[in-house]
Amino acid sequence: MGHTGWKIADNMPYLLALREKMGWVYGSEDLCILLYSLVKRQRPRLVVELGTGLGVSTVWMAAAMRENSIGHLHTFDNGSHFSRPAMSALFDMQEGLLGPLAGFADADRDIGRFMEAVLLSADVQEYVTFHSGNINLFELASHPAYADGIDMLFSDFDHGPEMVTELLARFLPLLSPAGSIFIDSASTHRMSYLLIEQMVAALNHRKIPASLACFLSDAEIDSLDRRLRSSRLGLTHLVERHDRPQNSTTWIQFEPLDMGPGLATNMHG
Ligand SMILES: C[S@@+](CC[C@H](N)C(=O)[O-])C[C@H]1O[C@@H](n2cnc3c(N)ncnc32)[C@H](O)[C@@H]1O
Repeated sequence: MGHTGWKIADNMPYLLALREKMGWVYGSEDLCILLYSLVKRQRPRLVVELGTGLGVSTVWMAAAMRENSIGHLHTFDNGSHFSRPAMSALFDMQEGLLGPLAGFADADRDIGRFMEAVLLSADVQEYVTFHSGNINLFELASHPAYADGIDMLFSDFDHGPEMVTELLARFLPLLSPAGSIFIDSASTHRMSYLLIEQMVAALNHRKIPASLACFLSDAEIDSLDRRLRSSRLGLTHLVERHDRPQNSTTWIQFEPLDMGPGLATNMHG
Protein backbone atom coordinates (compact mmCIF):
# COMPACT_ATOMS: atom_id res chain seq x y z
CA MET A 1 0.00 0.00 0.00
CA GLY A 2 2.57 2.56 -1.07
CA HIS A 3 4.61 2.04 2.09
CA THR A 4 8.23 1.13 1.50
CA GLY A 5 11.04 0.15 3.80
CA TRP A 6 8.96 -2.26 5.94
CA LYS A 7 11.00 -5.32 4.98
CA ILE A 8 13.56 -6.78 7.36
CA ALA A 9 16.56 -7.40 5.13
CA ASP A 10 18.00 -10.77 4.17
CA ASN A 11 21.31 -9.81 5.79
CA MET A 12 19.73 -10.16 9.25
CA PRO A 13 21.47 -13.51 10.07
CA TYR A 14 24.85 -11.82 9.56
CA LEU A 15 23.83 -8.78 11.63
CA LEU A 16 22.65 -11.05 14.45
CA ALA A 17 25.86 -13.12 14.35
CA LEU A 18 28.00 -9.98 14.53
CA ARG A 19 25.88 -8.65 17.40
CA GLU A 20 26.05 -11.92 19.32
CA LYS A 21 29.76 -12.69 18.84
CA MET A 22 31.24 -9.19 18.89
CA GLY A 23 28.62 -6.80 20.30
CA TRP A 24 29.69 -7.54 23.87
CA VAL A 25 33.23 -6.24 23.27
CA TYR A 26 32.03 -2.61 23.39
CA GLY A 27 28.68 -3.24 25.04
CA SER A 28 26.82 -2.36 21.84
CA GLU A 29 24.55 -5.44 21.63
CA ASP A 30 21.41 -3.44 22.43
CA LEU A 31 22.57 -0.02 21.30
CA CYS A 32 23.10 -1.32 17.75
CA ILE A 33 19.43 -2.31 17.61
CA LEU A 34 18.33 1.04 19.00
CA LEU A 35 20.43 2.88 16.39
CA TYR A 36 19.08 0.58 13.68
CA SER A 37 15.52 1.45 14.70
CA LEU A 38 16.21 5.18 14.82
CA VAL A 39 17.84 5.16 11.39
CA LYS A 40 14.97 3.08 10.08
CA ARG A 41 12.36 5.50 11.44
CA GLN A 42 14.10 8.83 10.88
CA ARG A 43 15.56 8.01 7.44
CA PRO A 44 18.69 10.18 7.87
CA ARG A 45 20.62 11.12 4.74
CA LEU A 46 23.94 11.66 6.46
CA VAL A 47 25.24 9.88 9.56
CA VAL A 48 28.73 10.26 11.07
CA GLU A 49 30.19 7.72 13.49
CA LEU A 50 33.32 8.53 15.50
CA GLY A 51 34.79 5.20 16.66
CA THR A 52 33.96 2.21 14.46
CA GLY A 53 35.28 -0.48 16.83
CA LEU A 54 34.44 -3.86 15.32
CA GLY A 55 31.77 -2.38 13.09
CA VAL A 56 28.75 -3.63 15.04
CA SER A 57 26.98 -0.27 15.34
CA THR A 58 28.18 0.66 11.83
CA VAL A 59 26.69 -2.38 10.16
CA TRP A 60 23.35 -2.16 11.97
CA MET A 61 22.88 1.52 11.05
CA ALA A 62 23.91 0.78 7.47
CA ALA A 63 21.46 -2.14 7.30
CA ALA A 64 18.63 0.27 8.18
CA MET A 65 19.84 2.60 5.40
CA ARG A 66 19.84 -0.29 2.97
CA GLU A 67 16.27 -1.11 3.96
CA ASN A 68 15.33 2.57 3.58
CA SER A 69 17.23 2.81 0.27
CA ILE A 70 18.61 6.14 1.46
CA GLY A 71 21.46 7.44 3.58
CA HIS A 72 25.22 7.32 3.91
CA LEU A 73 27.35 6.65 6.95
CA HIS A 74 30.90 7.98 7.36
CA THR A 75 32.71 6.09 10.13
CA PHE A 76 36.15 6.91 11.57
CA ASP A 77 38.66 4.84 13.54
CA ASN A 78 42.45 4.79 13.95
CA GLY A 79 42.53 1.05 14.69
CA SER A 80 44.21 1.63 18.06
CA HIS A 81 42.12 -1.08 19.76
CA PHE A 82 42.17 -3.34 16.75
CA SER A 83 45.84 -4.17 17.19
CA ARG A 84 45.45 -5.27 20.83
CA PRO A 85 46.49 -8.90 21.45
CA ALA A 86 43.05 -9.77 22.93
CA MET A 87 41.54 -9.17 19.50
CA SER A 88 43.50 -12.14 18.10
CA ALA A 89 41.78 -14.50 20.51
CA LEU A 90 38.41 -13.00 19.61
CA PHE A 91 38.94 -13.46 15.87
CA ASP A 92 40.32 -16.98 16.35
CA MET A 93 37.07 -18.03 18.05
CA GLN A 94 34.91 -17.03 15.09
CA GLU A 95 33.14 -19.68 13.04
CA GLY A 96 30.03 -20.05 10.90
CA LEU A 97 29.00 -16.79 9.24
CA LEU A 98 31.87 -14.98 10.96
CA GLY A 99 34.42 -17.70 10.10
CA PRO A 100 36.11 -15.61 7.38
CA LEU A 101 37.10 -13.07 10.05
CA ALA A 102 39.33 -15.65 11.81
CA GLY A 103 42.16 -14.88 9.38
CA PHE A 104 42.38 -11.32 10.64
CA ALA A 105 44.09 -12.55 13.79
CA ASP A 106 47.20 -13.51 11.83
CA ALA A 107 47.06 -10.93 9.07
CA ASP A 108 48.63 -7.52 9.40
CA ARG A 109 45.81 -6.28 11.65
CA ASP A 110 44.56 -3.73 9.19
CA ILE A 111 41.23 -2.35 10.42
CA GLY A 112 40.52 -1.06 6.90
CA ARG A 113 40.68 -4.56 5.42
CA PHE A 114 38.67 -5.91 8.34
CA MET A 115 35.90 -3.34 7.81
CA GLU A 116 35.90 -4.01 4.07
CA ALA A 117 35.28 -7.70 4.76
CA VAL A 118 32.55 -7.00 7.34
CA LEU A 119 30.73 -4.49 5.14
CA LEU A 120 30.86 -6.82 2.15
CA SER A 121 29.58 -9.79 4.16
CA ALA A 122 26.73 -7.69 5.53
CA ASP A 123 26.09 -6.41 1.99
CA VAL A 124 25.98 -2.78 3.15
CA GLN A 125 29.21 -1.57 1.51
CA GLU A 126 27.47 1.01 -0.68
CA TYR A 127 26.05 2.79 2.39
CA VAL A 128 29.31 3.18 4.34
CA THR A 129 32.65 4.95 3.92
CA PHE A 130 35.27 3.86 6.42
CA HIS A 131 37.97 6.44 7.21
CA SER A 132 41.16 5.19 8.81
CA GLY A 133 43.16 7.57 11.03
CA ASN A 134 43.09 9.73 14.12
CA ILE A 135 39.90 11.65 14.73
CA ASN A 136 40.56 15.39 14.50
CA LEU A 137 37.31 17.21 15.27
CA PHE A 138 38.44 20.50 13.74
CA GLU A 139 39.39 18.88 10.41
CA LEU A 140 36.30 16.73 10.40
CA ALA A 141 33.92 19.57 11.09
CA SER A 142 35.49 21.70 8.34
CA HIS A 143 34.94 19.03 5.69
CA PRO A 144 32.66 20.23 2.89
CA ALA A 145 30.83 16.87 2.88
CA TYR A 146 28.95 18.01 5.99
CA ALA A 147 27.99 21.47 4.81
CA ASP A 148 24.42 20.35 4.01
CA GLY A 149 23.90 19.13 7.56
CA ILE A 150 24.50 15.98 9.57
CA ASP A 151 21.31 14.17 10.55
CA MET A 152 22.93 11.94 13.19
CA LEU A 153 26.33 11.95 14.82
CA PHE A 154 27.26 8.94 16.97
CA SER A 155 30.40 9.62 18.99
CA ASP A 156 31.89 6.52 20.59
CA PHE A 157 35.61 7.11 21.01
CA ASP A 158 36.07 9.48 23.98
CA HIS A 159 33.43 10.58 26.48
CA GLY A 160 35.59 12.80 28.74
CA PRO A 161 34.45 16.40 29.39
CA GLU A 162 37.09 18.06 27.17
CA MET A 163 36.20 15.99 24.14
CA VAL A 164 32.47 16.35 24.81
CA THR A 165 32.84 20.15 24.93
CA GLU A 166 34.75 20.31 21.65
CA LEU A 167 32.36 17.85 20.03
CA LEU A 168 29.32 19.98 20.91
CA ALA A 169 31.06 23.17 19.80
CA ARG A 170 32.09 21.79 16.44
CA PHE A 171 29.09 19.63 15.58
CA LEU A 172 25.98 21.34 16.99
CA PRO A 173 26.33 24.02 14.27
CA LEU A 174 26.54 21.29 11.62
CA LEU A 175 23.36 19.41 12.58
CA SER A 176 20.41 19.46 10.21
CA PRO A 177 17.22 21.14 11.56
CA ALA A 178 16.12 18.10 13.62
CA GLY A 179 19.56 16.49 13.81
CA SER A 180 20.89 14.49 16.76
CA ILE A 181 24.17 13.90 18.55
CA PHE A 182 24.62 10.65 20.48
CA ILE A 183 27.60 10.37 22.84
CA ASP A 184 28.25 6.92 24.16
CA SER A 185 28.98 6.56 27.89
CA ALA A 186 28.85 10.31 28.62
CA SER A 187 25.68 10.16 30.75
CA THR A 188 27.33 7.85 33.30
CA HIS A 189 30.59 9.82 33.40
CA ARG A 190 29.83 12.24 36.25
CA MET A 191 31.78 15.24 34.89
CA SER A 192 30.51 14.80 31.35
CA TYR A 193 26.93 14.36 32.60
CA LEU A 194 27.07 17.58 34.63
CA LEU A 195 28.76 19.46 31.81
CA ILE A 196 26.17 18.38 29.23
CA GLU A 197 23.31 19.30 31.58
CA GLN A 198 24.80 22.79 32.10
CA MET A 199 25.65 23.34 28.43
CA VAL A 200 22.23 22.34 27.16
CA ALA A 201 20.45 24.44 29.81
CA ALA A 202 22.57 27.47 28.87
CA LEU A 203 22.02 26.98 25.13
CA ASN A 204 18.28 26.66 25.69
CA HIS A 205 18.44 30.14 27.29
CA ARG A 206 20.31 31.39 24.19
CA LYS A 207 23.54 31.67 26.14
CA ILE A 208 26.65 30.24 24.47
CA PRO A 209 29.15 29.25 27.21
CA ALA A 210 32.69 30.59 26.73
CA SER A 211 34.11 27.06 26.71
CA LEU A 212 32.01 26.36 23.57
CA ALA A 213 32.44 29.77 21.99
CA CYS A 214 36.23 29.51 22.09
CA PHE A 215 36.05 26.87 19.33
CA LEU A 216 33.88 29.03 17.06
CA SER A 217 34.43 32.04 14.81
CA ASP A 218 32.29 35.16 15.31
CA ALA A 219 30.24 34.20 12.26
CA GLU A 220 29.66 30.70 13.67
CA ILE A 221 28.61 32.13 17.04
CA ASP A 222 26.10 34.44 15.30
CA SER A 223 24.76 31.56 13.26
CA LEU A 224 24.34 29.32 16.34
CA ASP A 225 22.70 32.17 18.21
CA ARG A 226 20.19 32.69 15.35
CA ARG A 227 19.45 29.02 15.35
CA LEU A 228 18.85 28.92 19.11
CA ARG A 229 16.25 31.66 18.63
CA SER A 230 14.04 29.29 16.67
CA SER A 231 15.03 25.89 18.10
CA ARG A 232 15.55 24.19 21.42
CA LEU A 233 17.77 21.27 22.34
CA GLY A 234 16.18 18.11 23.69
CA LEU A 235 18.34 16.06 26.06
CA THR A 236 17.76 12.43 27.01
CA HIS A 237 20.06 10.21 29.03
CA LEU A 238 19.60 6.67 27.76
CA VAL A 239 20.85 4.54 30.63
CA GLU A 240 20.86 0.76 30.73
CA ARG A 241 20.30 -1.26 33.90
CA HIS A 242 23.44 -3.30 33.43
CA ASP A 243 26.12 -2.97 36.03
CA ARG A 244 29.01 -2.57 33.61
CA PRO A 245 31.23 0.26 32.47
CA GLN A 246 30.08 2.52 29.65
CA ASN A 247 26.40 1.77 30.22
CA SER A 248 24.76 4.88 28.83
CA THR A 249 24.27 7.05 25.79
CA THR A 250 23.52 10.77 25.77
CA TRP A 251 21.04 11.90 23.12
CA ILE A 252 20.89 15.59 22.20
CA GLN A 253 18.50 16.64 19.47
CA PHE A 254 17.70 19.97 17.86
CA GLU A 255 13.97 20.64 17.90
CA PRO A 256 12.82 23.51 15.68
CA LEU A 257 10.22 25.55 17.60
CA ASP A 258 6.96 24.92 15.78
CA MET A 259 3.52 23.45 16.30
CA GLY A 260 4.89 19.91 15.93
CA PRO A 261 8.14 17.96 16.18
CA GLY A 262 10.82 18.75 13.61
CA LEU A 263 10.85 15.38 11.92
CA ALA A 264 7.06 15.11 11.52
CA THR A 265 5.86 14.97 7.93
CA ASN A 266 2.22 14.26 8.68
CA MET A 267 0.56 16.05 11.62
CA HIS A 268 -3.16 15.62 12.24
CA GLY A 269 -5.90 16.34 14.79
C1 LIG B 1 34.06 1.91 21.85
S1 LIG B 1 34.88 1.57 20.33
C2 LIG B 1 33.62 1.86 19.13
C3 LIG B 1 32.50 0.84 19.19
C4 LIG B 1 31.48 0.87 18.09
N1 LIG B 1 30.98 2.22 17.85
C5 LIG B 1 30.31 -0.03 18.45
O1 LIG B 1 29.38 0.44 19.14
O2 LIG B 1 30.30 -1.18 18.05
C6 LIG B 1 35.95 2.94 20.22
C7 LIG B 1 36.84 2.95 18.98
O3 LIG B 1 37.41 4.26 18.89
C8 LIG B 1 38.72 4.14 18.35
N2 LIG B 1 39.47 5.34 18.78
C9 LIG B 1 39.81 5.72 20.05
N3 LIG B 1 40.46 6.89 20.03
C10 LIG B 1 40.54 7.28 18.73
C11 LIG B 1 41.08 8.42 18.07
N4 LIG B 1 41.68 9.40 18.74
N5 LIG B 1 40.98 8.50 16.72
C12 LIG B 1 40.36 7.51 16.02
N6 LIG B 1 39.81 6.41 16.59
C13 LIG B 1 39.89 6.30 17.92
C14 LIG B 1 39.26 2.84 18.92
O4 LIG B 1 40.24 2.30 18.05
C15 LIG B 1 38.00 1.97 19.02
O5 LIG B 1 37.91 1.09 17.93
